[in-house]
Amino acid sequence: MQLTMTVNLGERSYPIHIGRGLFDKPELLADLLTKGIPGSDIMIVTNETIAPLYLEKIQAALQNHRRADYRIETVVLPDGEKYKNLETLNPLFDALLNRRYARDCTLVALGGGVIGDMTGFAAACYQRGVAFVQVPTTLLAQVDSSVGGKTGVNHPLGKNMIGAFHQPISVLVDTDTLATLDDRQLCAGLAEVIKYGLIRDLDFFTWLDDHIEDLLAREPDALRYAIHRSCENKASVVSADEREAGMRALLNFGHTFGHAIEAGLGYKIWLHGEAVAVGMVLAARLSVRLGWLEAADALRIEDVIRRAHLPVRAPQDLTPDRMRELMSVDKKVLGGRMRLVLLRGIGDAVVTDAFDPDALDAVLETG
Ligand code: NAD
Ligand code: GLY
Repeated sequence: MQLTMTVNLGERSYPIHIGRGLFDKPELLADLLTKGIPGSDIMIVTNETIAPLYLEKIQAALQNHRRADYRIETVVLPDGEKYKNLETLNPLFDALLNRRYARDCTLVALGGGVIGDMTGFAAACYQRGVAFVQVPTTLLAQVDSSVGGKTGVNHPLGKNMIGAFHQPISVLVDTDTLATLDDRQLCAGLAEVIKYGLIRDLDFFTWLDDHIEDLLAREPDALRYAIHRSCENKASVVSADEREAGMRALLNFGHTFGHAIEAGLGYKIWLHGEAVAVGMVLAARLSVRLGWLEAADALRIEDVIRRAHLPVRAPQDLTPDRMRELMSVDKKVLGGRMRLVLLRGIGDAVVTDAFDPDALDAVLETG
């Protein structure tokens, strides 16, 4: 069964299609990939890990499609966050220009969040903006990065610091692609799934509490439900606040602590989702210290995160002083004041700078 939902953004609204085995249904796959594209020139962008797994299916579906003679080209980028930079995009721009792709071309991002963010950014820049389709293949990309139009690359002085808001024209999720994803990446994606329950969806968090082991076992119906519900939450937030003037910042729950951990470890060793997991635990514990959240709820949050095989304590070699210093360079800092996403209950998050700094210090000191 295939489900479709919409990200409502007026004339830039787009569908998210979620289903099992979509890559093995060539006609349907080509229909979904080409619906709404402005022309017939398509550039698939993927990486050297994903290409041997899924590229042929996408190429074959498009090449054999009954409806049109598409020109289909492919660029295969190196795999890894360390290649998420402007330099890596040059071969893609070279290919687009060499093949004389015009403003009516479409880029297809086949891969995880790195490929999705980079391809989306290239689409935002090429000839001042062309269409792109997201085909996310990691859990993190399927529940978070492929939806919402945040695109970009890293700079040596900061992660995701060069970017643009550029919405895809559609998102196509084949949940079966998760079968080839390694366990650690799957768990990292679960951190973002849990996040939606914590910030705005108590019923979903309760479901996750009951089904986290099914998700770890990759039970297909559980995975599909979790992805669908996560995308519903993301679509709803993005539809209400595309440019993060307000509530979209809630999606950064756990991320200020998490980014500090990632930066402190030089973006090596820990995955983003692992750092966010600890960040959510710390944010929950701070919420308890402020008297906003029941201690039992914080313990429940920690339990679900631990059962998702995610860490719940910051790395020991990051001192509280270093954490505080790294947290103070967060994008949410306004007028020199640190803002954090905190919980007033499970499913009820707020962005606030109105917290006692001593409470934050105490949480950082006790891990
Ligand atoms: P990733 O793209 O690096 O993918 C993780 C690894 O899994 C890579 O080695 C990749 O090649 C491999 N892989 C992908 N799909 C696979 C599959 N089906 N089978 C086997 N291997 C597969 O990492 P990610 O976690 O998907 O994304 C992280 C990136 O997303 C970061 O750069 C982060 O900044 C970005 N991000 C963006 C947003 C946003 O809103 N745009 C949100 C969250 C994260
Ligand atoms: N991943 C955070 C956002 O899309 O706003």
